[in-house]
Amino acid sequence: MSTQKQKQTEESSEETAIETETSSHQQRRLDEKAARKADREAQRQAAEESLDDEETVKLKVFRFDPEVPEKEEPRFDTFVVPFHKGMTVLDALIYARDHYDSSLTFRHSCQQAICGSDALFVNGRQRLGCKTQLADLDGPVRIEPLPHAEVVKDLVVDMEHFYDQMEAVEPFFDADELPDDELEEQRQDRQNREKIKMSTRCIWCGACMSSCNIAAGDNEYLGPAAINKAYRFAMDEREGEDRKEERMRIVEQEHGVWRCQTQFSCTEVCPKDIPLTEHIQELKREAVKNNLKFW
Ligand code: SF4
Ligand code: FES
Repeated sequence: MSTQKQKQTEESSEETAIETETSSHQQRRLDEKAARKADREAQRQAAEESLDDEETVKLKVFRFDPEVPEKEEPRFDTFVVPFHKGMTVLDALIYARDHYDSSLTFRHSCQQAICGSDALFVNGRQRLGCKTQLADLDGPVRIEPLPHAEVVKDLVVDMEHFYDQMEAVEPFFDADELPDDELEEQRQDRQNREKIKMSTRCIWCGACMSSCNIAAGDNEYLGPAAINKAYRFAMDEREGEDRKEERMRIVEQEHGVWRCQTQFSCTEVCPKDIPLTEHIQELKREAVKNNLKFW
């Protein structure tokens, strides 16, 4: 055999060896993955069987992961979790994630209705997971991401648009005049505080926006949360008349208060009981009053 031919034969057998090693490596990984999956399933079944004597609740949870080919088709997974008095939807999701499927994805933080991160669509209605008692729901409990928002993964939705709308109303205190002494408090009288009290309770959860038909059809509509935020500052007498005028200009725009059709869905779902529709109506009245001309 010539030297060149011998070299070619050696190279080709080296390539074959590498290919064989790669494919056996891939096969090993696939086998390990399948074994892990089977293990998880067995653990899950064992855990479910051990729950037989306990009171349990069945969850049907929306699943979707655009980054994993076999999970990019939306589906519902069923989890059976032990139930105890005082248990919330969020507690049940945490149990399912920690005991059955660590890839189950949802947002949460404070677990006491303050951070606003776990607004979900539970049994056909926007609710905070940590504030919703399982005992108050009919089973199986169906848990989905907030409607009218893009799903990032499982129960997590993209909140960017909601934050943009909040940002659009300049959601910060901005008085026309500041006290001479910078350490002096800007006091608010009791009546004025009472007027804006409920509007300050917003936790930016997005439940109201998700429930609003108008927001679903008009992407530019400021939405109930942003208008409520505008109300909170427009009605704060410490900001002064000039700033109030600017704030009214923002809410009177084409996609502002006049788009609201007083359907009350936002008010019904708000977990902080903010009278959103009432605030929107009051801003409409204020806008009419400001625009009336007397000849
Ligand atoms: S107004 Fe209520 S429902 Fe809307 S974002 Fe604020 S707390 Fe959530
Ligand atoms: S976890 Fe913070 S509001 Fe529910």
